Amino acid sequence: MDPAIIEKIIQESGEYTSDMGEIDGVPMLQDTCNEWDEIYNFQAREDDILVASYPKSGTTWMQEIMDLIVLEGDVQKSMRAPCFIKVPFLELGKTSLKYAKVTPSPRLLKVHLPVQLVPPSFWKKNTKIIYVARNPKDCIVSYYYFQKMDKTMPDPGPFTDYFSSFMTGNMPWGNWFDHVIGWWKAKDQHQILYVFYEDMIEDPLREIKKVMTFMGKDLSEEVLQRIKHQTSFKIMKENPVANYSNLPSVFDLSVSTFMRKGKVGDWKDHFLVSQNEQFDAEYKKRMEGSGLQFRMEL
Ligand code: A3P
Repeated sequence: MDPAIIEKIIQESGEYTSDMGEIDGVPMLQDTCNEWDEIYNFQAREDDILVASYPKSGTTWMQEIMDLIVLEGDVQKSMRAPCFIKVPFLELGKTSLKYAKVTPSPRLLKVHLPVQLVPPSFWKKNTKIIYVARNPKDCIVSYYYFQKMDKTMPDPGPFTDYFSSFMTGNMPWGNWFDHVIGWWKAKDQHQILYVFYEDMIEDPLREIKKVMTFMGKDLSEEVLQRIKHQTSFKIMKENPVANYSNLPSVFDLSVSTFMRKGKVGDWKDHFLVSQNEQFDAEYKKRMEGSGLQFRMEL
């Protein structure tokens, strides 16, 4: 792994502004909009595996699992570079995008895009995609702290305002409901494994096995146990390749850590009773008939 590239991606990430723009009606960071043509025309390969998610759904956790599955549990190799290098994020910036293009196969890639904005080449190549979804109440709380500490994102303001923005979908990468439902519908037409954060918390080994099978691998119980251990919250929180401690130009870890709580139900310490009622009513309306269900607590 070329340290100069790592340095360039780190340096460039900090140059970003926190302005917002829009792509086909979906609110996006302006910097993503500026590079949109290049992102949308990204050329996928048959043997790529893409992880997709709404922000704060457990993407980094899944990235580490996927990397360790490819490496057949080789922890030392998994320490070769930070997660945003091992699994290039197509919306992160020019260098990351360029780097994604030259990464040798088999590539792991990441997007936060809603399904309708995924570069068409991924559908043409029939690339395998793992979508990670998390219950929206914990997602809002996690996203709120994330926007507070991510210097390249708009300041979230007070939680009450942020809550309202989440409900209307006025957030980077758009409306949570549209995102999870859009991907849920797409899974019947494409090679998409739809994984829930709550299931990963409930039984990580079971979910790691599902991911392994989807990725076409067959690993021993011992290797799977090692992957489970290495990707536990406790280990990842201390692991510099996973905890984003190497991106100080972007993340102010004194405001909030990236690996913050890692649990289901943290929203209960943040939602007012009235917000919870408002949320439940909107959730019922939006999710009705979708066939998709989230667990807000375990
Ligand atoms: P919290 O802010 O609720 O703690 P993403 O990678 O999509 O940005 O998601 C980040 C969220 O996933 C954070 O949630 C983070 O703590 C949680 N997370 C990351 N790794 C995890 C792990 N190994 N176990 C449980 N949660 C994890």
